[in-house]
Amino acid sequence: MYRTHTCGELRGTDDGQAITLAGWVARVRDLGGVIFVTLRDRYGKTQLVFDPENKELVEQGKRLRAEWVLQVNGTVRKRPDDMINTDMPTGEIEVVVSSIEKLATPDTPPLLPEDEFEPSEEHRLRWRFLDLRRARMQRNLRVRHELLQTTRRYFSDQQFMEVETPFLTRSTPEGARDFVVPSRLHHGDWYALPQSPQTYKQILMVAGYDRYFQIVRCFRDEDFRANRQPEFTQIDVEMSFIHEDDIMRVTEGLMKQIFEDVIKVPFPETLPQMSYAEAMQRFGSDKPDLRFGNELVDLTDLFDGHGFGVIDNTVKAGGKVIGIHVPDQIKASRKMVGEWEAYVKERGLGGLMPLRKVDGAWPGPLGKFIPEPQLEQAVKRLGVNTDSDLALVAVAPAPRVHEVMGMLRLELAREFEWIDKDRHELLWVIKFPLLEYNEEEDRHVALHHPFTAPDPETFEQYKDSEPTKILSQAYDLVWNGEEVAGGSIRIHDQAMQMKMFNLLGMSEEEAKNRFSFLMEALQYGAPPHGGIAFGFDRLVMLITGESSIRDVIPFPKTTQAVALFEGAPGVIDEKQLRELGIKA
Ligand code: AMO
Repeated sequence: MYRTHTCGELRGTDDGQAITLAGWVARVRDLGGVIFVTLRDRYGKTQLVFDPENKELVEQGKRLRAEWVLQVNGTVRKRPDDMINTDMPTGEIEVVVSSIEKLATPDTPPLLPEDEFEPSEEHRLRWRFLDLRRARMQRNLRVRHELLQTTRRYFSDQQFMEVETPFLTRSTPEGARDFVVPSRLHHGDWYALPQSPQTYKQILMVAGYDRYFQIVRCFRDEDFRANRQPEFTQIDVEMSFIHEDDIMRVTEGLMKQIFEDVIKVPFPETLPQMSYAEAMQRFGSDKPDLRFGNELVDLTDLFDGHGFGVIDNTVKAGGKVIGIHVPDQIKASRKMVGEWEAYVKERGLGGLMPLRKVDGAWPGPLGKFIPEPQLEQAVKRLGVNTDSDLALVAVAPAPRVHEVMGMLRLELAREFEWIDKDRHELLWVIKFPLLEYNEEEDRHVALHHPFTAPDPETFEQYKDSEPTKILSQAYDLVWNGEEVAGGSIRIHDQAMQMKMFNLLGMSEEEAKNRFSFLMEALQYGAPPHGGIAFGFDRLVMLITGESSIRDVIPFPKTTQAVALFEGAPGVIDEKQLRELGIKA
């Protein structure tokens, strides 16, 4: 037997036991000839001590180095009360070493897991196996594991079946680029890796598996965006004979379990819902962070028509005047305001004006053009205390002005620490538009995906006139400003699905060609159905309080989609290229 106990296991009640441990040397301390070594494995750390009388063993102890792998025989000794280390679960004891077997004696590793200094992310990813020894990463992977178990238990208990769907498949429609795999047996033909199991789960509904889930890897060849990975994990769910609120209830049930079992925080009875239009108006985002206020305030009616050219002209063209309240910053320097202005300019706004009352006057362009009563009303609407606070105001075309001021709101929250990190705010965002117009492609594209059911009322009203005004039966779950899940009720009628493809500028032939298998299935008895998918990595990130999904994925890619220590992507040899028919 290599070990009788793990390094996290021994307690005061084990006093006097002869034991064997195995693990990595975390630290060696030589306190004037008395040697203390901390031995680590994934369960914890145990302090080893050496009997000063046993000179040979003490000499051996002195020569131990960080990250050597040892097998240690010894006896558990309860520490005297004043020596108990309450920071360590094994802090009541130490192990008096009787013999050591060195299982590996590596050179000093390029990354020391016990170092308090945080290495660069590139270095961490290059030496991931050493990085994964760090306590923080071990905790993150443990939470990930717990969440996998909680999820499987939750869905299985409710009669959901986990069904695996293929990775070598045809292009799937989530709107990103596909990763493709060449076929050796059919030169010139390619498989695509799934962007999600969307079509398969719908087909499973047609097949009668009315409660499906899967914890599944998805692949999307997207350009760099924060907190996205080219391969990531979803908790994918689909149900038949249900309405939107049934899916929401099942989703909230999982969140409740996660809050209670994993985070150990109570979960609200029901979650608030907000329409997409309201979220954009109030927060400039379809994933509003509700942990703090400072909402966007529309000042258009107050500031328009007073001869301030840029406001009057922009409003005439359909633009809006939007303000944000910045408490306690009446004294913000010109440089600070300049930095915020640069921030919004980089994102496409023309400028940013401070609104503040100084010695009874209103300095700056707003004070020059806008009459005092309107300025007073504006600060009241914003909730500004004119003795201490500032507001920042922008005028620009909508919805860009909302989006950028929404980003500024988040930026200010980071700068002034408006967010209480212990607070959790979840909500449903509903009533998304069905389509958006893509200028580049000069056609409408699905905001969610082409199988999302339209809201019947707005569909009839706008389908021939203003398709972008059609709403959908889609919903997103937002947690602390992150979209953690998204789904919709699906179209289950073939004729309706074809109308949708037409709205997307796809001919009948093209639709049948791309989605023939789904179109075929819809023809043969599709039940009403809908579903949702969680971004699993994002969930783990929020639970662990990390700010990057790379810190909760064991072997992530860099932001440039490179796997640093395995070295992928990489070249393949000529023979493989020939076999695949890629090279003659
Ligand atoms: P959607 O594309 O919204 O929906 O994806 C669902 C959730 O997956 C997460 N996510 C990602 N996480 C990490 N890296 C990425 N590149 C990435 N892309 C998405 C997000 C998102 O909320 N088939 C539909 C679901 C459905 O309609 O049922 C779908 O995939 O947290």
